[in-house]
Amino acid sequence: MEEQDRSSQPRLPHVLIFPLPIQGHINSMIKLAELLAIAGFKLTFLNSHHNHERLVKFNNIAAHFERYPGFEFKTITDGLPLDHPRSGSWFLDMFEDTMEPKMKQSLREVLVNSSPPVDCIIADGLLGFALDVAKEVGIPIIFFCTSSPCSFWVYYSIPDIIQVGELPINGTEDMDRLITTVPGMETYLRCRDLPTFCRKLDIEDSIYMKLVVEQTRKSLQTDALILNTAEELDGPILSQIRTKCPRVYAVGPLHAQLNTRLNAKHGESRDHISNTLWEVDKSCIFWLNKQPNRSVIYVSFGSIMSMSREQLVELWYGLLNSKTKFLLVVRPNSVIGKDGEGEDVVMELMEKSKDRGYIVNWAPQEAVLNHPAIGGFFTHNGWNSTLESVVPGVPMICWPQFADQHVNSRVVSEVWKIGLDMKDVCDSKIVEKMVNDVMVDRKEEFAKSASEMAKVTNQSVNVGGSSYSNLDCLVEDIRIMSL
Ligand code: UDX
Repeated sequence: MEEQDRSSQPRLPHVLIFPLPIQGHINSMIKLAELLAIAGFKLTFLNSHHNHERLVKFNNIAAHFERYPGFEFKTITDGLPLDHPRSGSWFLDMFEDTMEPKMKQSLREVLVNSSPPVDCIIADGLLGFALDVAKEVGIPIIFFCTSSPCSFWVYYSIPDIIQVGELPINGTEDMDRLITTVPGMETYLRCRDLPTFCRKLDIEDSIYMKLVVEQTRKSLQTDALILNTAEELDGPILSQIRTKCPRVYAVGPLHAQLNTRLNAKHGESRDHISNTLWEVDKSCIFWLNKQPNRSVIYVSFGSIMSMSREQLVELWYGLLNSKTKFLLVVRPNSVIGKDGEGEDVVMELMEKSKDRGYIVNWAPQEAVLNHPAIGGFFTHNGWNSTLESVVPGVPMICWPQFADQHVNSRVVSEVWKIGLDMKDVCDSKIVEKMVNDVMVDRKEEFAKSASEMAKVTNQSVNVGGSSYSNLDCLVEDIRIMSL
């Protein structure tokens, strides 16, 4: 009798989550996976062998996910040998010809052999091939765009911008010209805020441009779209995206939403959980513990960006000459110099920084940004970093380099008004001035706007808030899809 009752229970929906094999994408997709596991789904997180090895090595992943009996990590190849350095422009160089065919084949095999069968795929918005596989095997698919909604909308609009003749850009004097063809951004989007591939005269031949435009347009052909933002942060742009894809779930910031739900379910916060692909140096927290409140600027540029030796030295002099202490992250192999000069300069700066700053290879970023000693974030504006700064109300100095970062920095400085934009410059005098502005001279002004932004963002992930309710809708819609 007992057996019969058990078998008559409805099967749990089985969702497969498939991120792009890059830190910034894994970060948000693993949080979404955990949120769906909390909702009671069976979850398969499909990771590359290379990244999974690192996730296990540097985090307490196995112990943490044990609490969800239906949660499983599966691994596939990303098409590259395990010992490939995956640095520099590896991703763009290898994606289309080497990585995509192998990942597509592996995804197909996983889906065909899955038991219980997968009811719904949630794929990274840059993995357009997942749509073809999903159609082939007849499984519903939702795309998750892990970068910002404003960049998604700009990528979508690029063919229109070219068609009306607002691109290409004619020389440097043209960089402040407003772009008028992206609905909702007519008053603030300048040429210099477009992704950097738009700066090329032969933009129509840019492989990168074709890739992102194609992937963006493809992700609107799926059953629905998930975005890591809140209605309160990106409402006007979400309305524009909804004209092309009516089912858009804005469920972010995911790290904050996960905090709320973990607290409710297990009475704990996320402080002890990480999903980093590098070894974290926690000593910086002890150093921060000794600093006065809001006295330190945190300086970090994500998981992909590299900089030249000269750029690092300019930044460092600007920081050193400012009136503020700094915590600087320099990822291994991220400084480009001749014959190991990049690494040498880091050692030299570390030695000279002792009284004014602290340098680490990789920081526990969320914990750092939530530390009371932090008063500002000097960032490249990767979308995760941007949201991680918004949630604790930390004002930003923006130094964007590629992808969504140029438009993100414009939104931070011009729309949200919670920071300053240093795009296209790297000069120690300007670094010094901006650090002093955010940390000293205009400190209260930025702290006020950042804390107001934090307040509405945090409300969105609390019970009854917009992102909280949107996640409930997503969960319900996946349940219906799985019947
Ligand atoms: C990439 C793109 O560059 C970015 O523009 C896009 O929005 C997402 O994919 P990345 O450059 O790594 O990501 O930036 P970001 O999105 O900010 O992600 C970096 C992640 O690494 C953050 O979640 C951050 O908390 C984490 N991190 C960074 C650390 O944990 N420690 C560090 O020292 C630095």
